[in-house]
Amino acid sequence: MELERAIRDRRSIRRFTTSPVPDETIRELLEVARWAPSWANTQCWRVHVVQGDALARIAGELEARAASQVERRFDLPPPKPDWPPPLGRRIEELIAARRGVEAGSEAARGLFFGAPCVLFLTIDERLQPVYAAFDVGLMVQSVCLAAHARGLGTCIMARAVAHPDVLRAELPEARGRRFVVGVALGVPDLQAPINGFPRGRASLDELVSWGR
Ligand SMILES: Cc1cc2nc3c(=O)[nH]c(=O)nc-3n(C[C@H](O)[C@H](O)[C@H](O)COP(=O)(O)O)c2cc1C
Repeated sequence: MELERAIRDRRSIRRFTTSPVPDETIRELLEVARWAPSWANTQCWRVHVVQGDALARIAGELEARAASQVERRFDLPPPKPDWPPPLGRRIEELIAARRGVEAGSEAARGLFFGAPCVLFLTIDERLQPVYAAFDVGLMVQSVCLAAHARGLGTCIMARAVAHPDVLRAELPEARGRRFVVGVALGVPDLQAPINGFPRGRASLDELVSWGR
């Protein structure tokens, strides 16, 4: 798929079919994405590929905590609730667009929208996290684009890392590391309305200033 088209067409997928993603395909995505740029080529990311019973155990525990409203404890400082304009308005627009199409769909398919695989991204806890998380973001975008180019879907999820103690208990390689995001990965259910609602972007005039 042509790069610019992949960038424009990718969207967050929040309902997946039950089809698995072969390990070989996941390796292909990560093989491409490991070429992402990073601060002084430090490549601070580690990817924890979670599937099967381990994913089911994590999803079950996270869903139980969400149901009983256990306070979230992200490893990275979460955004403050008082978003400056126009960011707050954009969040409201997203919520309104989703509300019309998602009634019951997330609850019906679980926290990870039925994805057969979630990639959890971590950084060493000794790192200052701001630029390290920036680097992880570049790597994650590459994963999402490489997946999209192969007809796969992704959803980057902060929500997936809201209870990192649950993840560390299941993933021993993540001890001593901070969770940045999870990325749900699978075959998109293209009939599901949640995967088709319109999303917009700010115009260039809103985003760009020129200096000469
Ligand atoms: C850092 C980050 C965290 C996100 N967390 C979530 C999440 O927890 N749940 C979710 O449904 N979408 C999540 N998203 C997806 C965004 O809502 C989505 O990217 C945005 O609305 C733009 O839509 P698009 O990806 O379809 O273009 C997250 C995206 C990013 C970059």
